This record gives sequence, C-alpha cells and structure tokens, in this order.
Amino acid sequence: MNLKDMFISFFVSKGHKQIPSAPVVPENDPSVLFNTAGMQPLIPYLMGQAHPYGKRVCDYQKCIRTTDLEEVGDVTHHTYFEMLGNWSLGDYFKKESIEWSFEFLTQCLHIPLERLAVTVFAGNDQIAFDEESYQKWVSLGLKEERIARTREDNFWIAGATGPCGPDTEIFYFRSDDPIPEVFDPEDDRWVEIWNNVFMQYYKDENGKITSLPMKNVDTGMGVERVTSILEGVNDNYLSSIWKDVIDCIVDISETPYAENKKSMRIIADHIRTAIFIAGDPSGILPSNTDQGYILRRLIRRAIRHAKNLNIDINSDWEQEIAHLILKKYQPYYKELVQNESTILEVLKNEKNKFNRTLEKGLREFEKVTRDQKEIDATVAFHLYDTYGFPIELTLELATERGLTVDQDGFQEKFKQHQELSRTASVGKFKGGLAGNSEVETKYHTATHLLNAALKIVVGENVHQRGSNITSERMRFDFNCDHKLTDEEKEKVENLVNEWIGAGLDITVEEMSKEDAINSGAECMFIEKYPDIVTVYSIGDVSKELCGGPHVKNTSELGCFVIKKEEASSAGIRRIKAILK
Ligand code: ALA
Repeated sequence: MNLKDMFISFFVSKGHKQIPSAPVVPENDPSVLFNTAGMQPLIPYLMGQAHPYGKRVCDYQKCIRTTDLEEVGDVTHHTYFEMLGNWSLGDYFKKESIEWSFEFLTQCLHIPLERLAVTVFAGNDQIAFDEESYQKWVSLGLKEERIARTREDNFWIAGATGPCGPDTEIFYFRSDDPIPEVFDPEDDRWVEIWNNVFMQYYKDENGKITSLPMKNVDTGMGVERVTSILEGVNDNYLSSIWKDVIDCIVDISETPYAENKKSMRIIADHIRTAIFIAGDPSGILPSNTDQGYILRRLIRRAIRHAKNLNIDINSDWEQEIAHLILKKYQPYYKELVQNESTILEVLKNEKNKFNRTLEKGLREFEKVTRDQKEIDATVAFHLYDTYGFPIELTLELATERGLTVDQDGFQEKFKQHQELSRTASVGKFKGGLAGNSEVETKYHTATHLLNAALKIVVGENVHQRGSNITSERMRFDFNCDHKLTDEEKEKVENLVNEWIGAGLDITVEEMSKEDAINSGAECMFIEKYPDIVTVYSIGDVSKELCGGPHVKNTSELGCFVIKKEEASSAGIRRIKAILK
C-alpha cells in the first residue's frame, strides 16, 4: 500500500470519513489562485459551518504553490504536491490528535522513535504554553530533550487572517550521522514531516485573536517528502513517485540523469503541475493572466528545459511523459480521466504555439544580449511580445549568463500594453482567504438565480462551469455555443430582477445525493459531493447542491445588472454582473 492509501485507511479506522480532494482552483475564493494547503477548502467548516461528512474527516488534497517556482530543480521543491490531512471539526482535540499521529508514524510507517522529535508552542503574551501537548508527547515516550518549545513557528495561520492556533510539529532525522540527543529545530538534518494545528482561534484584520465557536484539529503531511523518507532517498525525484518519470525523460533525451538533473526535474515537476491545472474542473487554459498564466509559464519552462536536453521538441515527448503521469494519478482523481484529452491537447497546443517562436526568440536573445550587462525593458518586452517569452524565462536565461534585467521597466511597459499582468497574479498569492462577507453572500445567491435564468433564456443544457465572487462583483462561466444577444441578456437580467422583486425565500434541506439528483437539483461536480448533501432552493425557481451561505430572502439582493458578457474559453461564456 502506498502512503496515501495507508493514511486514509488509518484515519478511517479512527472514525474519519474520507472527503474528495477539492479542485486546485478554489471555488468562490478569488483571493488565492490555487489551494496551497489541505485546510483551505475546509475553512467554512473550521469556522463553524456543519460539514456534510460530519466532524471527523480526512483526505489527500491537491495543492499548488508557485511562489518558489524558480526553486524547482533542486531535490525537494515541487510546484504541485499532495497534502495528507485529518481534521476534527469540533470533535477530538490534542490528546487523540497526537496519539494517532504517533501511532500512525510508529506502528504503520514503522518509523523508529529515536528518529522523531517535536516542537510545541512556547506561549506568548496572549496564549499560554501548550502544556497539554508537551505532556502528551512525554507520556508517549519522547525524551524531553527531543521536545523543543518555540514561539513563532508553532502558531499556524494560512494567510494574514483566518482560523489559526498553536501547533505541534513532528520532525524526522534524515541523515546517516549519529542522531543527536538534543533536538535542535534549526538543524536541517531534522525535517518536518507532520504538522498538527489546534485551531481554536480566529485572527481578524486588526490582528485581534478571538476564540472560534469550537476547537478543531487541522493536520498536514506532505506526500512527496514522507515518501522519500520512507524509501530512504535524499532526492525526491528518485522516490517511487518520480523514478519512472525521470527514467522516461532519460530515455527520451538519451541523457543520463546525472548529466542534467535540474532540467529533468523541472520537466517532470512542471508537466505534472500543468496536468493538474489543465485537468481541473474549473477549465483553465493557458493565457496571460492568473492561473492561465501560471499554466503557460510551466509549460513553456518545461519546453525550454527539454530543449536544453536536446529533446526533439516537435516529437511527442510531452505526451509520452504526460501519459505516464496520468496513469499514475488517474486512479486517485476522476477529473484526470474525464479531462484526459483536454489535458493532452492543452500541452500539445501550447507546445506548438511556443515552438514556433522559441528558436527565433533564443537566437534573438543571444543577438541582443551579446556584450551587454543588462537586458533593458524594451528588449525584455520585445522577447515577451514577439516571441512569447514570459519575463521569468528571460530572467532565467539572463541569470544563467550573469546578466541583469530591468524588471521594473519591463513591468511598466507591460502595464502600458495590458491591463492584467503577472504582478496582479503574484499579488493574489499574498492575499488572505475566503471571506463570506454579507455582500459576497448576496452574490452567492444571485449566482444561483443567474444560473436558473440562463437555463430558461438560453437553454436547459446550460450549466455552471465556474464561478468567482468578490465583494465588488460576481463572475459566472457557463457552457454556451454563442455570444448572448442583447435581447437574451436583457431577458436574463429581467428574470433575475423579477425573482428578486418577488421576495422568494431561500430554504435549505439535507437529502441523499440520489434524491437530490432525482429531484432535479443542479450540481456542478457530482462526484465531489458526499452521500448526504445540502440543497438550497430559491422559491421554486432554483434548486442546487451547494454548501452555502445564502441570504434568507431574495429581496435582500438589490438590483442585478449584467456588466459584461464575453468568451471565457472554447464553448464557455462568461458573465460579469453586479448587485446595485
Ligand atoms: N494547515 C497546516 C499546514 O499546512 C496543517 O501545515
């Protein structure tokens, strides 16, 4: 059994329900581009909303972190990774959480006690030292020298605000050196393998910490890291997760791994992440903004490194690697089965597009940078605009040759030419987490009304393909083969406003998934839902499987106005609308 299966079966045996991994693109959370931790899709439930699966859940969550994308190429960094987690949503707390972590590590994974050490929260002026966790670890046999008390590192929060709490981190001694008696968390031979967060607080915009309605446990364990540890390899790319992918790249490039590990790791990592982005139910395609831009950057960077390895770019090299990765992950993720042809097509199309200009662009790069120390903004922008070189690619090439790039100048030029830039995307990573403000709740309800209106005006077979809400507007993607006419838009607007004017009550009920579907309830990704689902109805105009929250009555919404209707991708239209 591999680590993912062992983890799930262990926590199921402790009364947890396995929940499906949420999509990599968060639904209804515009503040982040991708899920970066297992807990992210669970925030509403950590805040008090009842989870349809109950109070004990576990999963493996697809996560994407691209802030240190440039680091990929070493032995540990990945842009995509899987996080194992078990949660108590107001159920068990420190005792069971620590006991079960210990049992799983020592009994199931057979990690010897002498290789383990932990940190616990030392306490600060607001929250006391975590005596309970400390004593629990002692009772399980950990020597006191192996329990470090730290402050900053033992308080966990996903962003600037949100649910948070003290944590206890578990470390493994990953080295052949003699194991030191005293654990030093700064000694990097000790690597963190699991984090148990005791989420009982909430931090607001002013930094104020208050208690949550209940005490939760949130844990996170990285699949890639722990797999390497269990298999005794120091290079993650030599573990069973990657070995065959690297072997495949070695074959295709006819180059030994030792000769250019960096390029091989980048290709392996970036193609895997591109597969998960292109295969996400949100239907992301390569573009110059947000998630689409990350997807483009990943594919283009992989192509550039394939070229480094003298791979014939026009061959089907990327399809071959993708097939291997798909085969490995399809048993775990249905969307990769459903979207296999889209994924392969995205990779191929983006490759063909970039191939047309890559060669020329590289020649141009060599020409214009000869005898130069700095690449000025005009050159960088020209490489971007004419040859499709993401600025990060220009930077990478420049760094390899000891040149600098006028990045500020590039950004200025970029802004002059386009509204949306990478800066905007990067800014989003720094943002906080989902807010369920009053206005966002209104937009959430309006989304259901819009969905219902489109079915009437455009056709029964119209379904939601994506949605994104901010406090300023709602965005709604749906399948449709034509641009909406002015008449259609007007009809949709009028219908939604009619329903708002009618003051319809929103009701919520729980039922089996089967009953919900049979009753005609609308639902975007059926496989994502548990056996018992929550169904929101708005009068008798809309019925959808949904986690909420919603307003109580449509009269709270104000006036619905469509601001824009445009193409989102092939066969998908996008509406931006506001409530006035
Ligand atoms: N949410 C915690 C983490 O990501 C478990 O480390």
